[in-house]
Formats: sequence, C-alpha cells, structure tokens
Amino acid sequence: MLENKKQNPTSLGEWDWEKIPVQTDSLVGRAFAPTNIALAKYWGKRDLSLNLPQNSSLSVTLARIGSFTTVEFNKNFVEDSIYVDGQLQKRTGSFLKKAKVVLDLLRQRSNISWYSQIQTKNNFPTGAGLASSASGLAALTLAASHALKCDISKEELSGIARQGSGSASRSLFGGFVQWDRGEKSDGTDSTAHSLASEGHWPLRVYVVVVEEKDKINPSTDAMELTRKTSPYFSAWVEYAERNVSVIREQILARDFLKLAISAEENCFKMHASAQAATPPLLYWTPQTVEIIHKVWRLREKGYRLFFTIDAGPNVVIFTDDLRHEDIKKELGEVKIIESKVGEGAQILEP
Ligand code: PMV
Repeated sequence: MLENKKQNPTSLGEWDWEKIPVQTDSLVGRAFAPTNIALAKYWGKRDLSLNLPQNSSLSVTLARIGSFTTVEFNKNFVEDSIYVDGQLQKRTGSFLKKAKVVLDLLRQRSNISWYSQIQTKNNFPTGAGLASSASGLAALTLAASHALKCDISKEELSGIARQGSGSASRSLFGGFVQWDRGEKSDGTDSTAHSLASEGHWPLRVYVVVVEEKDKINPSTDAMELTRKTSPYFSAWVEYAERNVSVIREQILARDFLKLAISAEENCFKMHASAQAATPPLLYWTPQTVEIIHKVWRLREKGYRLFFTIDAGPNVVIFTDDLRHEDIKKELGEVKIIESKVGEGAQILEP
C-alpha cells in the first residue's frame, strides 16, 4: 500500500522531493535542514573514522537554504538506496556511503535493522557552489531518527550527523553554532550546540557564486593532504582552537568590525595551510580574489561587510549594513544567493 503525497504544512515548499510514494507499512520521517557557513573553520581531523576534528569551529546557519529529506524504513527493502531529485544514486556514491554511517548508528540505537529508501532535494541550485553535505546529512539524521522513534537530544544527534559529515553536526542548530572538538577518543564529546539564536544578530548573507562546478577535492582528502604535507598545518591547528574563543566573544558581543577582521584572518589562515600542501590546494580563482578586493574597497569607504571562503572559489559575504543595493552594485555582474541567519533543522510532519 502506498501513501499519497501530502502538502507540506510548514510553507517551506511542497512535498515535491518525494517522487516515489512512501508505503503505508513503512516507518517514515521527513525533515528540512539548512546549510551553514563557518566563520571559525574546521580543517583537519584527529580521527578519520569517527570524523573528529583537530579544532573546534563556529558557524552561521543560513535561513531556508538547505535540504528536504524523507527517510523510509521498510522490512521488505533489501538495501539502502538514495534518490536525489528523483534520480537513484550509485551504490558506490559518496553520499550513500556517508548516509549509511548515520543510518547504521540509528539502527543500532533503535534496534530496528530494516533498510531504508531516502529521497532528498536541495532547494539551492545544484552547482551553486554551496556544500550540500552539511544540510543533506543533517536532514537525513533528523528524519531517520524521527522515523525510528529514537529518543535522542539534538546535541547527540549532531554527534551522529558528524560521523556522516563533519559540518553537518552544526546544521541541526539555528543561529550561531559551536562544534566542540572534544577530548575523548570515542568522540562522544565532539558535538555541536547553539551559541546564540538567529534573533541574536540579524546579519544579511550574500553567497557570491564565482563558479558553479563542484569542488575539485572532496574535503576529507584535502584535509588529510594538508595534515600530512603542509608545514603550516600544526600552526593552523594551534591558532584555530584559540581563535574560536576570540570569534565566540565577538559574536556574543555583536562586535561587527572586530569579527570582520577575525573571520577574514581565520579564512586566510585555513587557506594558507591548504595552499602549502603538496600538491597545493588552491581553491580560489581570479574572480575570488577580485571579490575579496571589492569587499575591502567597500569597507574602506565605510560599508560594514566581511567575507569568508570555504573549500571552493565562492565568497560568502556577511553584512549588517542597510545599504544593500549599493553593496550589490559594487559587487558587479555576479550571481548572488541572498540569505540571512536562520533557524536550525526541523521535522516536517505530514
Ligand atoms: O564537513 P565537511 O567535510 O563538509 O568539511 C567542511 C570544511 C569547510 O567547509 C572548509 C570548513 C567548515 O568548517 O565548514
């Protein structure tokens, strides 16, 4: 028996990511999770299999940009499968591999061993240069835990999402989020938590899409290459952990101008450690550098904005300046995805 598609009651969109009706004898969970952008970045793992970071990190959750996911467990399924935008993904695909880590942890917790069928969709264009692993794995973790009726706190869920993709640990929460590196070797203290809610500081976010291609290197490989070959890696790790406290205080005090300097410095230091790897990891294009200069030029003129850049060429700009049109004009003929500080992941009830 198949269940008819329902309207999504949260106004986030229709149930249009579900191309295959779920079965009435399935355990089903649906969730939305937003993506996030780190101001104090995570770059380097202290444990590869548990996905434990060398340093803590801080991020901003982006409003309404993310992944819608349905997870359906059924005793008759013979394997786990994932459909992205209605397209069945390869068994060997990296998303399915990461998803299985999360699914296995939740199956263990719930004592339900059924396989699952996952249907997911991002509401940002594929190739927008935004990482979908953070929102995708966070939505999957929340939806699957709901389907299996696991009674788990959000912090603990973030530790499970972390094992699928590090940055996914932060997407469960809204606003400003801290992911602690943790000290324990089993990783149970390496979870994210809310630092301040989305109402704390209504910053505007512009994702300047420089290139629409997927990133050249999967982040795990790139982090490992940096750890193993970059002479600047240890300096980065030592700096990064200290810098989290600095950035945390600036966020809590809403000190925009100090945060502007610290967040850009953090971004440069992360990229410098990666650029010093052998072979070098250079994510920037000439246009990336051009946007950096435009941001600095605007700041010299008294506009309040700063940027950060993840493992790709796109530049993410934060501003509390109300002169939005001037800023966009100065950035020139570029594709911009606009957002603001948003809520965390949520369950979508049919
Ligand atoms: O969690 P991953 O594997 O998507 O790695 C994220 C790495 C950065 O985006 C560059 C930094 C961060 O903290 O999000």
